[in-house]
Amino acid sequence: MSVTLLALPYDAGALAPHLSRASVQLHHAHHHRIFAETVRTAVTGTALERASLEDIIVETAGRQAQAGLFQAAAETWNHNFYFRSMRPGGGAPSGLLAKMIDRRFGGFDGFSRAFVAAATGLIGSGWAWLVVERGSLAIRTTANSDTPIAFGETPLLGLDLWEHAYVLDHQGRRADYVRAFLKSLANWEFAGDNLDRLLDQAAVPMRASFAETTRR
Ligand SMILES: [Fe+2]
Repeated sequence: MSVTLLALPYDAGALAPHLSRASVQLHHAHHHRIFAETVRTAVTGTALERASLEDIIVETAGRQAQAGLFQAAAETWNHNFYFRSMRPGGGAPSGLLAKMIDRRFGGFDGFSRAFVAAATGLIGSGWAWLVVERGSLAIRTTANSDTPIAFGETPLLGLDLWEHAYVLDHQGRRADYVRAFLKSLANWEFAGDNLDRLLDQAAVPMRASFAETTRR
């Protein structure tokens, strides 16, 4: 089966001072690991034993009897995505993605304001995402363990809004954590690669449509 705990793509201390080594290590080696191990245990000996993580999520979404497996699988996928959504030093969107952000949000500042508003507006635990939905960029939040891939949306960038992600370094101040992510941690190269992968998989007219949108 392909349910694996993603190795951190950087040293655990590389995101400091925005996220400390202790915080990242605890998050990855404790929270993330428990979810992945829960999935492995739950599917062993079942029809889903050899299924991909994505297939497990789609198969169990909305099924009350499998809510626990869905939660663990979605958390594993979300965390795999989250840790790749960051890199030391962050960066800025470029290429087609930058043009799409300009077009959709009026520029990076407009996007940042909307992302912070969405992330801080989520009551309780969950996730904030930049996604492609029906051929357009959108900002989404999902509550608790939910994930955009259960709804047919394609995430480009994801941020963990569970308090365990920011309580040590930001004393639970979510807005500070979200702003630090956007300013100093967000991996826009990863986001751009996700967009390219979607466009490569989609029908050719979708790429043409995006290009046309950004020319106007
Ligand atoms: Fe987390």
